[in-house]
Amino acid sequence: MTNVIFESVSLPRPDHLQLASPATAADAGVSPDVTGFYDEATGSIQYVVADPVTRKSAIIDPVLDFDPRSGSTRTTSADRLLKHIEAHGLTLEWILDTHPHADHFSAAGYLKDMTGVSTGIGERVVEMQRLWKAFYNLPDSVPVDGSQWDRLFADGERFTVGEMEVRVLLSPGHTLSSVTYVMGNAAFVHDTLFMPDSGTARADFPGGDARQLWRTILRILQLPSDTRLFSGHDYRTNGRDTSWESTVAAQRAHNLHLKNCDESKFVKLRTERDRSLPMPALMLSALQVNLAGGRLPPPESDGRRYLKIPLNAFAQASWGR
Ligand SMILES: [Fe+2]
Repeated sequence: MTNVIFESVSLPRPDHLQLASPATAADAGVSPDVTGFYDEATGSIQYVVADPVTRKSAIIDPVLDFDPRSGSTRTTSADRLLKHIEAHGLTLEWILDTHPHADHFSAAGYLKDMTGVSTGIGERVVEMQRLWKAFYNLPDSVPVDGSQWDRLFADGERFTVGEMEVRVLLSPGHTLSSVTYVMGNAAFVHDTLFMPDSGTARADFPGGDARQLWRTILRILQLPSDTRLFSGHDYRTNGRDTSWESTVAAQRAHNLHLKNCDESKFVKLRTERDRSLPMPALMLSALQVNLAGGRLPPPESDGRRYLKIPLNAFAQASWGR
């Protein structure tokens, strides 16, 4: 079965790649309970994943609701996650982000305040903090050491949710600090692979890299073929129902952007497609919050919080689109 899938997609064999280490399931025998929560406003999927034995759980990529027209925030989406955890008798152990998102605010800070549970993200987030501190011209007092999170994960690092081992796979490309969380037979692949009919994520934000994204995708596709893959976004391609779960086998066989591709073809396809896309509407707002651990900027002298938008800092304007 696996060989057939390899042939149909024409992916290079893993040993052709210079990878840090092969991907292996953390503990492939465990099948965690995964519940996805779709955010209509941004097409994001938030997850609650639970160890079926101990009922200990983690939240992945929670959304803090933001209405850019009024500048209002609310916690409806994040509260829904907490209600689910309570209703199902789960104990929350981790609040995780796969990367600093460009399309929505992370609710990690709010959830930490509500629960006291530890937050975590990939350790290369500090590189993104430095990069974006310059774009926002933030004062030296703003830390760029990742201290806004309780835990910064290195590639290959392992931790536990209940008795379930979680393996962290560095997954750069969409952003330079993206990570994939592999828990038993499930992997949270964020904005690396979307559903097969939707392809892959863009790689043109500062620090993004289409070549790195290709190598990350191959690394994820080295996981066992029946590994359940959970994506970070869905845009209901061709009007189908919302969907966020696929498998390694399905991605190998059907992913729109991987068919008959090699590294150079993928980089060309991805780069050309990214050039045609407008910047995400919330990027300049969202990264300010998300690179601070999902916390809004501190209040100013009037007690109000303000976002800062750098003007004319990026060439990709959306005129006429
Ligand atoms: Fe993203």
